[in-house]
Amino acid sequence: MFGLWKTWKALEARGIMGINRRNADYVLKYNKRHLYPIVDDKIITKERAIQAGIHVPEMYGIISTEKEIEKLDQIIGGRSDFVIKPAQGAGGDGILVIADRFENRYRTVSGKIISHEEIEHQISSILTGLYSLGGHRDRALIEYRVTPDQIFKSISYEGVPDIRIIVLMGYPVMAMLRLPTRQSGGKANLHQGAIGVGVDLATGVTLRGTWLNNIISKHPDTTNAVDGVQLPNWDGFMKLAAGCYELCGLGYIGVDMVLDQDKGPLILELNARPGLNIQIANDCGLTQRTHAIEAHLEKLAKDGVQESVEDRVRFAQDLFGHVPAQ
Ligand SMILES: Nc1ncnc2c1ncn2[C@@H]1O[C@H](COP(=O)(O)OP(=O)(O)O)[C@@H](O)[C@H]1O
Ligand SMILES: [Mg+2]
Repeated sequence: MFGLWKTWKALEARGIMGINRRNADYVLKYNKRHLYPIVDDKIITKERAIQAGIHVPEMYGIISTEKEIEKLDQIIGGRSDFVIKPAQGAGGDGILVIADRFENRYRTVSGKIISHEEIEHQISSILTGLYSLGGHRDRALIEYRVTPDQIFKSISYEGVPDIRIIVLMGYPVMAMLRLPTRQSGGKANLHQGAIGVGVDLATGVTLRGTWLNNIISKHPDTTNAVDGVQLPNWDGFMKLAAGCYELCGLGYIGVDMVLDQDKGPLILELNARPGLNIQIANDCGLTQRTHAIEAHLEKLAKDGVQESVEDRVRFAQDLFGHVPAQ
């Protein structure tokens, strides 16, 4: 605990962003309220992404009412792995990642065996709004289960790691790799017990990590080093994240992506109120970077210039790399 407190204090001097500043100067300022449903509802996000030609895990079906729960078998078809999640969920709550079938039952990614009735019950809970923001009625979506790229085998434990990039007005600001642990049940959400690992924006090489308020450089389950790993296709992830500005119109977002073994980079979800722990994982505050982007945008506006995705990615990589450019 003490270690973390010291880190926050040290970061303060280097422009750490607190929750009040994030809300007032970024979320409220750059995210128009009427656009929230695009990111707060994963079904709408998916539809938008598909329209924009951005890859997402394939949707097998949607269940909107109790009556439709009987469609589940038909939606799953002969598949033995799939994911069920609340369209308006957050923080990994209410998500069922089914990895296999076993006799007449299902095996979750963390090895738990569950019955068909239990799955139906879970869907029913999703529909009542148990996991939705604000607690109102929700829909359940059933989708393709991502199989992480082999690169993550050595540094992850079960489940799917995801890559989060914070994007301001289409400019990448900071990145983090989130690794599931035994504790997080295959999910990459930090409050479920996943690890957050900083990523050098210029190169895609991992830095050290933060886990349950500790700073770490080894994965607690595998004991393998989590730092110094080159993430594949880094420029691709940066462009994918930067392009999400055009997709949703929100100016300050967290873009969550995964690297599927067969399908490559996919967008998992967008977040209109991205968390602040990314600063600990990167040992760096957000404010200096966001200010640099805002100053850049002001200058561009004066000159009447708008930059492309490629320009924006290059700007971020030139300015925000941890490793000085050669
Ligand atoms: N299609 C999927 N395949 C495999 N794992 C998934 C899938 N969707 C989500 N997960 C796991 O669950 C976590 C949370 O999912 P996400 O869609 O980001 O919802 P939330 O808004 O609750 O964070 C992901 O980080 C990932 O580890
Ligand atoms: Mg998420």
